[in-house]
Amino acid sequence: MGIVTKTVLVTGGGRGLGRATAEKLAVVGHRVILVGRNPAAAEAAVEEIRGSHPHVQVEARWVDLSSLAQVRAFTTTEADRGEPVDVLFHIAGVMQTSKTRRLTVDGYEETLAVNVLAPFLLTALLLPALERSVSARVVTVSSRLHLPGSRGAPVDFDFDDPQLERGYHPDRAYKNSKLAVLWFTYELQRRLGPRRITANSVCPGFVPTTAAASTTGVMRLLMSSVMPHMPFATSVDEATDSLVFMAVDPSLEGVGGKFFGERHPMESSPQSRDTEQSRRFWELAERLTGSANEH
Ligand SMILES: NC(=O)c1ccc[n+]([C@@H]2O[C@H](COP(=O)([O-])OP(=O)(O)OC[C@H]3O[C@@H](n4cnc5c(N)ncnc54)[C@H](OP(=O)(O)O)[C@@H]3O)[C@@H](O)[C@H]2O)c1
Repeated sequence: MGIVTKTVLVTGGGRGLGRATAEKLAVVGHRVILVGRNPAAAEAAVEEIRGSHPHVQVEARWVDLSSLAQVRAFTTTEADRGEPVDVLFHIAGVMQTSKTRRLTVDGYEETLAVNVLAPFLLTALLLPALERSVSARVVTVSSRLHLPGSRGAPVDFDFDDPQLERGYHPDRAYKNSKLAVLWFTYELQRRLGPRRITANSVCPGFVPTTAAASTTGVMRLLMSSVMPHMPFATSVDEATDSLVFMAVDPSLEGVGGKFFGERHPMESSPQSRDTEQSRRFWELAERLTGSANEH
């Protein structure tokens, strides 16, 4: 029996896990909209994929997720095509290393903006395209690093200082963003109610080969050459298998509001499951993105 072809929009398609996931999905017959940060990255990725697999359906698009205006312009064009999007896969993400806080053109802390606010707004504005699907999925990428006790500065989301104007640390920004993406995913599932759209989140495992890009110096060397051979490391192939599973595996039909790792549901932190904090974060994201009433 052949596969049911889905249209899958993948962010972060220019490189890393997004690029590799886009390729795997296209190779098994899905139509992939590969979204990179800029035209050169997206088109180069598409050309490379077509070079090895000439008959795949993969199209290049681009948007810089650190700009809410660009996210709006991108989604308006996408929604105007009038075509269904069966899977909206938010893979793009940033992990800063510098202790200097970086702001986006909108004046927001960059990690929060790219990892959470952009997916939040993209999802809101692409709901019409998702609703055109017989059965749609929104998949976000979180990380086990949001769990209490994970390595580095602790997760510590302060609703009075979501932009980390005080006490900025790149680990804290990343972990907070991965907690917030879970709040967003779970609250989205609650708000979608009986619609035929589900929302889940996934941790791809620790993939040093791609994570190396976010590091510098000795750490980059270790991540790209030593850590991939360690027992705790996940290969790009294993990680993208579990991302492809999230996007299209039939066993996930109708399953929503869950956190997965390696194709199995996992417990996310008690804080991520706090419905009051999820609702609070949702309202904050609506304010920051100017998207009230768009979900
Ligand atoms: N690797 C791991 O161990 C690991 C573990 C847990 C979770 N994750 C998550 O998995 C996802 C993919 O990670 P990865 O390892 O593939 O990281 P990566 O190799 O650093 O790739 C990150 C991707 O995000 C894109 N991106 C960053 N900022 C962007 C922006 N402003 N606009 C548009 N695109 C932007 C990058 O595009 P450019 O090429 O333009 O920079 C790149 O395609 C991320 O969400 C990450 O947090 C990774």
